Amino acid sequence: MKHSSFSLLAITLGRASRTVLFLGLCLLWQTTQAQSVKSPNGQLTLTFALQADGVPTYQLTYKGRPVLKTSTLGLELKTAPSLTNGFAVAGTKTATFNETWQPVWGEVKTIRNHYNELAVTLTQATSSRTMLVRFRVFDDGLGFRYEFPRQPKLDYFTIKEERTQFALAGDHKAFWLPGDYDTQEYSTVTSNLSEIRGKMKAATTPNASQTPFSATGVQTPLMLKSKDGLYINIHEAALIDYSAMHLELDDKNFVLESHLTPDAVGDKGLIQTPANSPWRTVIVSDKAGDILESKLVLNLNEPTKFKDTSWIKPVKYVGVWWEMITGKSTWSYTNQENIKLDSIDYSKVKPNGTHGANNAHVKEYIDFAAKHGFDAVLVEGWNTGWEDWFGKHKDYVFDFVTPYPDFDVVELNRYAASKNVKIIMHHETSGSVRNYERHLDSAFQFMNKYGYNAVKTGYVGDIVPLGHHHYDQWVNNHYQYVLEKAAEHKIMVNGHEAVRPTGLARTYPNLIGNEAARGTEYEAFGGNNADHTTILPFTRLIGGPMDYTPGIFQTKVSAYNPQNTSFVHSTLARQLALYVTMYSPLQMAADLPETYNKFLDAFQFIKDVAVDWDDTKVLEAEPGDYITYARKAKGQDKWFVGSTCDEQGRTSKINLSFLPVGKKYTATIYADAKNAHYEKNPQAYQIRKVSVTNKTKLSQLCAPGGGYAISIM
Ligand code: NOJ
Ligand code: CA
Repeated sequence: MKHSSFSLLAITLGRASRTVLFLGLCLLWQTTQAQSVKSPNGQLTLTFALQADGVPTYQLTYKGRPVLKTSTLGLELKTAPSLTNGFAVAGTKTATFNETWQPVWGEVKTIRNHYNELAVTLTQATSSRTMLVRFRVFDDGLGFRYEFPRQPKLDYFTIKEERTQFALAGDHKAFWLPGDYDTQEYSTVTSNLSEIRGKMKAATTPNASQTPFSATGVQTPLMLKSKDGLYINIHEAALIDYSAMHLELDDKNFVLESHLTPDAVGDKGLIQTPANSPWRTVIVSDKAGDILESKLVLNLNEPTKFKDTSWIKPVKYVGVWWEMITGKSTWSYTNQENIKLDSIDYSKVKPNGTHGANNAHVKEYIDFAAKHGFDAVLVEGWNTGWEDWFGKHKDYVFDFVTPYPDFDVVELNRYAASKNVKIIMHHETSGSVRNYERHLDSAFQFMNKYGYNAVKTGYVGDIVPLGHHHYDQWVNNHYQYVLEKAAEHKIMVNGHEAVRPTGLARTYPNLIGNEAARGTEYEAFGGNNADHTTILPFTRLIGGPMDYTPGIFQTKVSAYNPQNTSFVHSTLARQLALYVTMYSPLQMAADLPETYNKFLDAFQFIKDVAVDWDDTKVLEAEPGDYITYARKAKGQDKWFVGSTCDEQGRTSKINLSFLPVGKKYTATIYADAKNAHYEKNPQAYQIRKVSVTNKTKLSQLCAPGGGYAISIM
């Protein structure tokens, strides 16, 4: 439509009809430029349109209801004109994709990847630059990303900010964490979007490294619920060579906008074309359980690059760990302070007598693991350097190959191997990324030499070099480097304090765990809210499994360390449920063997529960209130059910129709006793056996902060 012909027409008409004509032309303009694509089942509709000034926009509806209103797309660049406006559509392409694939490990045996795609090529005439936006609409939501083809006018660029909007339809209830460039170890706040600003300060609790950035900035995965019952989850998939995305909220209009993590000089991404952004994901349903069952984030990642995955195995483990977290024993071997690793001779200094990772004690753990069928024992504090690192920003602390004098690497690995148990390596990097990379080859060779096949990494404290952030592009590239190097050595990785997962385990299945949220350790640092684990599956776990480290039966931390008055905000029965509700192919029984020995009947569930699954069903779910899952063990005719609830308690009503027709099973139900309570009476539980079929209906009490676990075999 040419402007001149429009004005000519307009002056010949009266005012009212002019308005009508103008609106009509706008509509016409919109519809000629707009293009829609539906999900395979037709319930989701994505519409792309260019605004008058060449601003790309999209919107999303679910069963005709708005999920995202008109939301703008684009990026601002540092020293070049922005990629936010002045675009024309050079072409669009649609496609359909439908496949099934089998994860190396997972919640289900087979995953369906079925979507309709719309790829829009945009050109900016003024700058001769081209950018694509690729949308994939699945039955469970939307994924889209920017693609930057190789081209003379866009060869290298620096991102100043990504300007991707998610314009919500109202003041939804949000399950949010303060936006932060360095940590996700916060308690989730549940509030309306409009209340975030007022609650931000109190929500930003202290952490060893933290960089909150605004009064309305929040993290992903962000879980939302609209007043009319739509569940919406916003996150990202396939975060590679890019900085992690936060969301900045305009709390007047309920528009979220991408906010990338800056690097040490404030840049938000150094890009060389051809390149893609990560996928921006919006999972949506009117059933909460669908959000938990969504495989959209995994589907947006590439198939695995590994030809041989036989060395990747789910792991159930115990560890020399909780005793240090509670303060019963120490990571360090001496009480020396102010030491330099290259000038201390550990064989000459006096041991403190509280060092957890000593030969005799590690052997006790190995014996316990072997006796009860665990795959591995994590040992932290085995290596020199723990005396002097925390908060010091030292470049060089750990060399990752030198054990303390009382930890015999050769003998302990021999002993473990003789009992068919592995020792899990621990690499606390103290945030010194440069130092870790310097030592990575020798550290992994050391692991190969002594028989370790899994490493728990950690990035406590500020990133060194200082100025970088845990979630910036450069540091994300470090995690990726470690993951790929580990794969070369056939080593599985469980990264703590690293960037939140975005489904990369599909491509790199040796990433068997991550922390990236407030784990059980915080129960010894003041506590997690009683509803914490009814939220995490809707938030953090959308990106991938979490090494939550459940299984604490002695919920009073003072039993191990009289100085520590923290307590676990959960009943004992709920600790069992977490093995089912907090999906991970890596599960720890985190409490001390001496405690498990006192509760062997309840411990039986942890021994029995699977860590890899053929099938998963969400039986009941409401974020912040309760979650009940049933899962079928991989390759076995065994089912496990787990249910957790918030501080209110409730009666869970489920039916076992997921069981095969006509078969009888014995269900062992591990449940809260009537008078159980996460604070007042956490250890009150009952175990009962009942015979069940797929017709069985079950009504089961969950105490405040409680839950139940069932094995069906
Ligand atoms: C924090 C980790 O989350 C925890 O599991 C570990 O024990 C400590 N860092 C020490 O590395
Ligand atoms: Ca941590």
